[in-house]
Amino acid sequence: MCGIVGYVGHRDAYPIILEGLKRLEYRGYDSAGIAMFDGTNLKVSKTKGKVLDLENKSTQENNINGTIGIGHTRWATHGVPNDVNSHPHYSNSGDLVIIHNGIIENYESLKKELLKRGYTFNSDTDTEVLINLIEDVKKNEGVKLGKAVQIALNQVVGAYAIAVFDKNKPDEIVVARLGSPLAIGIGEDEFFIASDASPFLEYTKNAIYLEDEEMAIVRRHKDVKIRKIKDDSLVDLYIQELQINLEQIEKGGYDHFMLKEIYEQPNAIKDTYRGRLLVNEAIIKMAGVEDNMKKFLNADRIIVVACGTSWHAGLVSEYIFEDLARIPVEVEYASEFRYRNPIITEKDVVIAISQSGETADTLAAIKLAKSKGAFVFGVCNVVGSSIARETDAGAYTHAGPEIGVASTKAFTTQITVLTLIALRLARAKGTISSSDFRRHLLELEMIPGKVEEALKSDSHIKMIADIYKDAKNFLYLGRGYNFPVALEGALKLKEISYIHAEGYPAAEMKHGPIALIDEQMPVVVIATKKGHYDKVVSNIQEIKSRKGKIIGIVTQGDKSVKDLADYVIEVPETLESLTPLLTTIPLQLLSYHIAVMLDKNVDQPRNLAKSVTVE
Ligand code: AGP
Repeated sequence: MCGIVGYVGHRDAYPIILEGLKRLEYRGYDSAGIAMFDGTNLKVSKTKGKVLDLENKSTQENNINGTIGIGHTRWATHGVPNDVNSHPHYSNSGDLVIIHNGIIENYESLKKELLKRGYTFNSDTDTEVLINLIEDVKKNEGVKLGKAVQIALNQVVGAYAIAVFDKNKPDEIVVARLGSPLAIGIGEDEFFIASDASPFLEYTKNAIYLEDEEMAIVRRHKDVKIRKIKDDSLVDLYIQELQINLEQIEKGGYDHFMLKEIYEQPNAIKDTYRGRLLVNEAIIKMAGVEDNMKKFLNADRIIVVACGTSWHAGLVSEYIFEDLARIPVEVEYASEFRYRNPIITEKDVVIAISQSGETADTLAAIKLAKSKGAFVFGVCNVVGSSIARETDAGAYTHAGPEIGVASTKAFTTQITVLTLIALRLARAKGTISSSDFRRHLLELEMIPGKVEEALKSDSHIKMIADIYKDAKNFLYLGRGYNFPVALEGALKLKEISYIHAEGYPAAEMKHGPIALIDEQMPVVVIATKKGHYDKVVSNIQEIKSRKGKIIGIVTQGDKSVKDLADYVIEVPETLESLTPLLTTIPLQLLSYHIAVMLDKNVDQPRNLAKSVTVE
């Protein structure tokens, strides 16, 4: 997720763009850049780091001024964060300049074709490919910029919100969107474009939000026109008068970043499997795995090292890898692993999971594993982070920045990546039939829609939260694939509501914890139809007979648990190996609502930090 801003009108564009980028930094903050046309020259200033670094650099470099410009704050998906990979990107001629939020899936094939035509590239980004594709179309078809953008985008697969301008026509900016947001602010003979309205709210409250597959040319002294990218047909203008404030916009209208990020999960999962899950071709494509296939297939075992929620995602992967790919897996707390003098050989593959990519214990575990000759594969959410750079190879989650300290979309996107890897290895090892493989691909593709479905229980979950918000202890129970989800649900509640909660394998209750059960103890039981359903139902009966309060997470339409539990929360049916992607949703919402009702600081809970970079 990146932030884009643009302006064309009668004001000095620089301060508008710079302030606008500061307001969009919550969307991405690993590099920033600005391109302006000062009437004579196109000037671009860009740098790794935050918008403040850009401000310092651009005011020193050259006092760029002018009344047309575009700016970008980056959340890297391709190419590590550095000056060269920062946006804006030029075309080869130096005439065209672009900023982009999204992922171009087919950029490699487009780049190959452009290289054949003599184009050169300075960066590793998909965006630089797009601007040169636009230039190539403009030159070969002899069309104006708007038409060139339209033709080029019809060759692109992926997601984008882009703004492009030509220094030879510095009165207009061409914008287009597919899958990433883009708003147009309409002022008095001036136009603003941005990822959301926060950069222009103080100048105008009149906004148009482009829909997917729409584009527009905003031009001085002209009215804006919206067109369909596919067929150039005109789209009726729908100008909204905005009634929201800045803070609401940054949180996407949600009260907290955590809630926003819970609701971003359908898109985050989609962005994470985009370009990797190719259902029509019935293949999974992951360069980091393909390039190291032998290491994975010849491994004696996979050792997962992680902390916190990432450790829970690793525990889910143990079930997936062993069940589907028949590869032995050990899941280790990185903080324990690094000090217990573990046995590590060159036949081991270590998978390090980390949202921030900066967790000190995980980084130390990686270094220890590498020192013993193991191959280390990283699953991170921050491109170019320390762990991403330290590991031998990896696969990024494309969850976008996770601002809330309590990890939510990172968890589900980590599981998505790990599931893709396990399925790819299972296919390579022949431990899964082609029909079962296809079934998993089809079902994984439907998960974002099923997460949307699970999110619809939000108000029902809020009602349950209100009933149990004053409990002093909670138990979370799950079996099989959902045992790690029980642990994760307990962690979510603990870390934002400060209520003590424990996760347990459901069958473990009879080995002690059942002594805790009484009418003061809410027990959240994950009892979806897949897996050991009947055994979980009998665990529920054991709890009920001891007057425990039962909140069941059940498959849509379940009747048995509904009759036994005090409350049930339904999730759509899916394959057993994919249930964690759905059963975690109600647990995230339950902990969120309880914490809000207890007036806790949901996004920045006490004693916690978003990234634990110390031991
Ligand atoms: C989870 O909600 C917590 N914020 C915490 O446990 C976190 O998962 C842990 O610190 C690991 O962080 P990482 O994924 O950035 O390495």
